[in-house]
Order: sequence, then C-alpha cells, then structure tokens
Amino acid sequence: MRYLTIALAKGRLARQAMELLEQIGITCEEMKDKDTRKLIFVNEELKLKFFLSKASDVPTYVEYGAADIGIVGKDTILEEGRKLYEVIDLGIGKCRMCVCGPASAKELLKHHEMIRVASKYPNIAKDYFYNVKNQTVEIIKLNGSVELAPIVGLSEVIVDIVETGSTLRENGLEVLEEVCPLSARVVVNQVSMKMENERIGQIIHGLQKAIGK
Ligand code: PRP
Repeated sequence: MRYLTIALAKGRLARQAMELLEQIGITCEEMKDKDTRKLIFVNEELKLKFFLSKASDVPTYVEYGAADIGIVGKDTILEEGRKLYEVIDLGIGKCRMCVCGPASAKELLKHHEMIRVASKYPNIAKDYFYNVKNQTVEIIKLNGSVELAPIVGLSEVIVDIVETGSTLRENGLEVLEEVCPLSARVVVNQVSMKMENERIGQIIHGLQKAIGK
C-alpha cells in the first residue's frame, strides 16, 4: 500500500486539524514534539505521511499531487486558485474576509472612488472590487501587518482577515464591508480522489462524522 500524504497549514490550524484527525483514530505522535525541526512525519501502521508547510503553499502541493490531501483556510484556497477538490468545511478557524479602514473611508467606498486597497490577498481583493462591486481600484500587495497601510497613508482601505476584531479596534480601524466568511477546509488532489477513492473517502466520512455533518 502506498503512503497517503496530508499537508497541513502550519500553526494553530494544524494543531486544531490534528485534534480532529485524532478523534477518528488518525494520530501522529512524532508531530507533537514542539522542539522538532523535522518537516515530515509518518504513521507507519496507517501508511500516512504528514507535513507542515506555509499555508499558501498547501494548495500548490495538493494540485501537483505531492500531497493527496490538504487542510487549509478558505482564504488561501480562494487566493491561490489552484485546481483541486474542496471536500469538507471543518468549521474550525472561523473568521471573515473584510474590507476595513477608518470610518472616513465609508464615503469613498459608497461613491466608487478610485482608491488604493492594500492586502495580503490581492486576488481576493481584485475579484471583490472588480467583479462583485464593479469598482476600479489600485491593489497593493503586502505580506503582513496590513493594518498599517491605512494608518500611514499607503492605502485608503485594506482587505484582510478579521477574527476577534481586536487588531482593528486597537488601531482605530473598523470593518466597512464583508467579503466572505472563512474557515478551514479539506482539499483533495483530483487524481488522488479517483486512484485512492476508498482510503480518502474513509477519511472524509470520518471527519464529516466527527464534526457532525
Ligand atoms: C491576522 C489578520 C489580522 C488579524 C486579525 O494577522 O491579518 O491582522 O490576524 O485577527 P483579530 O481580528 O482577532 O485581531 P496575523 O496574526 O496572521 O499576522 P499578519 O498580519 O502579520 O500576517
């Protein structure tokens, strides 16, 4: 039997996903060692391999079949636009993709002004402004701490993830519009889905049961 490989977006999501997998008997003791610098972990009995990667790389590994299954946020799936099957909404890591800025930016949005939009998610931002709102904007790609952009005058608004809203509050910004709800999803390589239908199907059904779907 060949190994099935599962790619996890490293960080909090990976820990929550492993807890869910444990509930259905898929464990990986090696991975719990917090000090390890190992990148790949194996469960010999189940013939499973796990690896952690940067979230934005998970859809890439899955599209190319280097991972059969991935667990990653909907934000990353939308942004990367890879060819893969999205099979389950795990309901963990719930948050929202929003247009945020100072209250004063509301008018600019309402009147479809030519504004600058900073985001770690330029594709999601572009799709929202061009295809949903029909508003021409300038998109500026950033790599983190996006809330800085409207504060220092790089952009009028941002498109970013809002979870508790405390980052916004502490910086005098607010949610101006909601783009879409987000949560962690299970994605599957399109060829693996056919070739390993039985084993992948078992994992999918197990997870669906564990989350009560
Ligand atoms: C994310 C996001 C917001 C923040 C939202 O950033 O980009 O900045 O969390 O969470 P909150 O609504 O609970 O405050 P992350 O921590 O991933 O850091 P980054 O911005 O540097 O990427």
